[in-house]
Amino acid sequence: MSEKPVMLMPEDVQRILGKDAQRNNILAAKMVSEIVKTTLGPKGMDKMLVSPTNDIIVTNDGVTILEEMQIEHPAAKMIVEISRTQDSEVGDGTTSVVMLAGKLLENAERLLDKKIHPTVITKGYRLAAEKAQEVLREIALKITPDDHEVLKQVAMTAMTGKGAEDSKEKFAEIIVRAVTQVASNGKVDLGNIKIEKAKGDGVKDTELISGIVLDKEKVSHDMPSRVEGAQIALIDFPLELKNPEIDTKISISSPDQLQGFLAQEERTIKEMIEKVQNSGATVVLCQKGIDDFAQYLLSKEGIYACRRVAKSDMEKISKATGGKIVSNLDELTNFELGNAQTVEEVRHGGDVLTYVRGCKNPKAMTILIHGGTEHVIDEMERAIKDGLGVVVSALTSGLVVPGGGAVEMELSKRLREFSQGLSGREQLAVEEFASALEFIPTTLAENAGLDPIDILTELKSRHDAGERNAGLNLFTNKVENVLEARIIEPLKIKTQAISSATDVANMILRIDDVIASSGRSGGMGSMGGMPPHMAGLS
Ligand SMILES: Nc1ncnc2c1ncn2[C@@H]1O[C@H](COP(=O)(O)OP(=O)(O)O)[C@@H](O)[C@H]1O
Ligand SMILES: [Mg+2]
Repeated sequence: MSEKPVMLMPEDVQRILGKDAQRNNILAAKMVSEIVKTTLGPKGMDKMLVSPTNDIIVTNDGVTILEEMQIEHPAAKMIVEISRTQDSEVGDGTTSVVMLAGKLLENAERLLDKKIHPTVITKGYRLAAEKAQEVLREIALKITPDDHEVLKQVAMTAMTGKGAEDSKEKFAEIIVRAVTQVASNGKVDLGNIKIEKAKGDGVKDTELISGIVLDKEKVSHDMPSRVEGAQIALIDFPLELKNPEIDTKISISSPDQLQGFLAQEERTIKEMIEKVQNSGATVVLCQKGIDDFAQYLLSKEGIYACRRVAKSDMEKISKATGGKIVSNLDELTNFELGNAQTVEEVRHGGDVLTYVRGCKNPKAMTILIHGGTEHVIDEMERAIKDGLGVVVSALTSGLVVPGGGAVEMELSKRLREFSQGLSGREQLAVEEFASALEFIPTTLAENAGLDPIDILTELKSRHDAGERNAGLNLFTNKVENVLEARIIEPLKIKTQAISSATDVANMILRIDDVIASSGRSGGMGSMGGMPPHMAGLS
């Protein structure tokens, strides 16, 4: 009698078990790390990403590259996720975190080969990460919020190698001014710094506006193009009669009635505009529509108006100008109006923008990025966002560390010392963690065409001699005190990277069974082979 097989799952469910599952996941993580590693540091290369619709992105930014690649392998996706977290939590260090996770897994594989159980490895990694956080807190340097020079250096370190080289200093100045201006009680909401783009002039013309730049033109040509000493009404109410949200039916049976009805309509609009005018407003920014008749009346009064301004912009303008957003015209008085030195319409190439500028003590500002092409502007935007992230992070925590691999080398040294006090197998795991950290300085060297082994040897001996801030300065291509060379990063880049890289590496190491149902993306089809654009890299 033959036994019938027991079926737990549908036939098309695929499984990878034990070692195979581990190796497959580790390989995927390593491949992701290999992809971004050539972009690391000031001498890193860029990648050109072409979408299915032939849109092109040229970038050096880790998280942008990984997001655009549409990675499907489940473990690789977990690595992409930590890059995203790094981006949202710190705004920079998205390449480093992926490299660290990849290296932790690669080194873990060596331990697996020595028959060390994954549980021991994850415990060792956890101990190493905790120790690293402790050392980081110890070596971090305090800065004060008005240390503008240091904050600028932090911004510049983040932007080095992002194609913003010529304007780095200017960008850093803009970033620090913007962040310190919108900060309140030591906190910064980056939502209050608007980034707007203008195609036409050069990157060098990028400017900080004490106010808000809107991607809007005035509603009518008859309105003034420029208003000085602007008093701005912020209205969240349609300046029109036909409210499309309400369906109304009117029965009219005689021409007189029609005439009367139209006259009534006109009167209502007239009353609205009178209310606006009585408040003393010289500019109207309306979140809803403004109809032809209202436009005509506003133009006649010499009032500048924009319609359908985005809600988020209305809020920023309110913060910048001190005006209140009103949703009932009866509430509109001079007190509710915002103030700006000028409101004007400006043309840049084909784009028309409305500048609300010269606000006194604005709590929201705009960085207006200029550039010759969209690709350049977009990459500048990514550089500026990195700069904003690190400055906010340095300002809010008040702690910074030296870059150029100095921190990683010091951590690695201290972890090796720490490992001496541990039992055999955990000791090996902590040592592998220590060696994974060296991947950052060696890659910085490699990407700059320097010999990674030479650099690593020198870094090691300098740290052993007690030179805590010895790092690779890629302005001079020498190992030196990088703090003096002003290569500075916020502490948070490092603490966040270490904690998420360790978390994801440990999570992947604990997996010994991958069960994938077919017929969905990320299934086993993408487990065996990588998506075509990742194949061949290993
Ligand atoms: N002038 C410099 N010399 C050496 N290393 C630098 C310099 N400027 C930045 N770095 C280092 O480059 C690394 C960041 O590179 P980057 O390409 O921005 O990657 P990430 O996406 O991880 O931020 C950091 O380790 C930083 O310390
Ligand atoms: Mg960076």
